[in-house]
Amino acid sequence: MTPEFWLNRWERGEIGWHQTEINVHLQAYWPQLDLAPDTQVFVPLCGKSLDMLWLVSRGHRVLGVEISEPAIRSFFQDHELHPQMSDKPPFRRYVVDELEILVGDYFQLTACDLAEVGAVFDRASLIALPPGMRPRYSDQFKAIVPTTATCFLITLDYDQEEMSGPPFAVTDEEVSRLFSDRYRIESLASFDIIDDAPRFRQRGLTALREQVWQLQPREDR
Ligand SMILES: C[S@@+](CC[C@H](N)C(=O)[O-])C[C@H]1O[C@@H](n2cnc3c(N)ncnc32)[C@H](O)[C@@H]1O
Repeated sequence: MTPEFWLNRWERGEIGWHQTEINVHLQAYWPQLDLAPDTQVFVPLCGKSLDMLWLVSRGHRVLGVEISEPAIRSFFQDHELHPQMSDKPPFRRYVVDELEILVGDYFQLTACDLAEVGAVFDRASLIALPPGMRPRYSDQFKAIVPTTATCFLITLDYDQEEMSGPPFAVTDEEVSRLFSDRYRIESLASFDIIDDAPRFRQRGLTALREQVWQLQPREDR
């Protein structure tokens, strides 16, 4: 899953993952994290997710990273926002009020870029990556996200034999394998959503589970 793959998806407008409503699990479970309102929230592989605006509306500062510049331009246009743009090599930085988006490669972020981050919201990021890339994603995550930051993660699980990703199936065991060295992993909720996912049923799925996780930094580290 190269950057070109994603850039082409944006160019062709094939962005079936994009939600035109705020994510329901974010609204339902984020308050349980009980974060200070001004906490900066990192949104990896952010696309043009409306969830970033919801987080800002709750008082958070938001830092997104996205490889596609057209996606980010479209995001700001859609919401009639007029960001300041500057170069922050190897990124281009867009800032408007409490929202900052770095256009560039997640794998080029450094701990310095995320120094003020106090929480992470990952929806459709980990599951956008094929199995072979996920350890690299989580290694980079642990290298750049401050050790005290709490993470809110949404995954999908299904029989990978029935459909090819993205989105890819990520099992509970894999979440644990990727993150349990750093985080205490708590399942906040789990839903059978195949009846709400006709698009995936058409692609061959017979069952689909959506899982909401909180990853709490382990105190014993
Ligand atoms: C499945 S989409 C999810 C977008 C967003 N999280 C959402 O909920 O709508 C994955 C996004 O990651 C972006 N992406 C993929 N690889 C990336 C990378 N290495 N660095 C930054 N963004 C990347 C893609 O362009 C795409 O917008």
